[in-house]
Amino acid sequence: MFKAKSITNDIYYVGVNDRQKLMFENQIPLPFGVSYNSYVIVDEKIALIDTVEIPFAEIYIDKLLDVLRGRSVDYLIINHMEPDHSGSIRAIKRLFPDVKIIGNARTFKMLAGYYGIEDGLMEVTDGSTISLGKHELKFFLTPMIHWPETMMTYDASDKAIFTGDAFGAFGALDGGVVDADLMVNKYLDEFDRYFSNIAGKYGSPVQKALEKMHSVQIDYICPTHGPVWREQIPKIIDMTNSLSRYEGKRGVVIVYASMYGNTEQMAEAIAEGLSESGEKNIMIYDVAKTDASFILTDIFRYDRLVMGSPTYNNGLFPEMASFLLKIENRDIKHRKFSYFGSSTWSNATMRIFAAFAEKMKWEVIGTAVEEQQSLKENAYKACIALGKELAKA
Ligand code: FEO
Repeated sequence: MFKAKSITNDIYYVGVNDRQKLMFENQIPLPFGVSYNSYVIVDEKIALIDTVEIPFAEIYIDKLLDVLRGRSVDYLIINHMEPDHSGSIRAIKRLFPDVKIIGNARTFKMLAGYYGIEDGLMEVTDGSTISLGKHELKFFLTPMIHWPETMMTYDASDKAIFTGDAFGAFGALDGGVVDADLMVNKYLDEFDRYFSNIAGKYGSPVQKALEKMHSVQIDYICPTHGPVWREQIPKIIDMTNSLSRYEGKRGVVIVYASMYGNTEQMAEAIAEGLSESGEKNIMIYDVAKTDASFILTDIFRYDRLVMGSPTYNNGLFPEMASFLLKIENRDIKHRKFSYFGSSTWSNATMRIFAAFAEKMKWEVIGTAVEEQQSLKENAYKACIALGKELAKA
């Protein structure tokens, strides 16, 4: 019953939407859902590229059978082994026992470990090719986007590259599949959030993959999540390049925690100082209210970051402590940083933020501000001054 969608004459989309999962990887909210993309290239031989998460196998196989029209899958190419893409491999192998599974040495270790599959394998290395007839496929090993086995598959005939998680975006596909047929700005925002949270740590491997992609002409980028990119290719390559270099455009993210509003008032005063100095790109987040994935996205987007927290049980406010871990986990580089904190009897915040800046190798701007109990005039003025210094940085 379910229909596949054609992308070119020979390439079909057989992926599925997941609008039920609340949290991607059980940690990142999905307000617009997510898609698990899989593609079929129909030629003298038929290649299936990646699969979908197992709860969707029935719809997925229905779409696949629609494309196959009685034929079999000759090759199953595994660009990425994470279970949101590899989940239906066993179902495919059961349906097509003679299918050759294409991957690299690392893929096959994971394939055995996750699914116990050790036969019918065809190993490829960086630059290997296979012919489907008219379509010649070339494989690029692109480790750590986002796991060690990740690779890309390039179809020279249709100039389409199947990139695994690279160039992926959150957001289920609303009707269409190709960017030109979708409300694209929604997906560009979710592209940033996907990159920051999923691939953000792997800036250097992403740069290496971008270099490899320079060697081929690309008309379609087909990732494992989100739209197929056609019209937006220059833009998403630019965005990926900039995010993976941790460049950050001009702007200041202020992230704070506050129990009774006193630390919050310090954040407001810093923003006033920034604004008085002409800074417009100011984003203020209460770390206990906004999900970390959205805050991290803006920290990737902008070049300066200020963080503030009350002291809580001789440490940071717990949500702030957890947020520092999330930043560290993504290894966000080159931020200009400052901090502020409050306490009622003893202040641990300043020491923790100072150590964090050192660990992240971030440049500290201005004079950090510390207050006890409520915000008073001296600290208020110091916060405004800190805002002004940040505006100049
Ligand atoms: Fe969508 Fe790294 O898997």
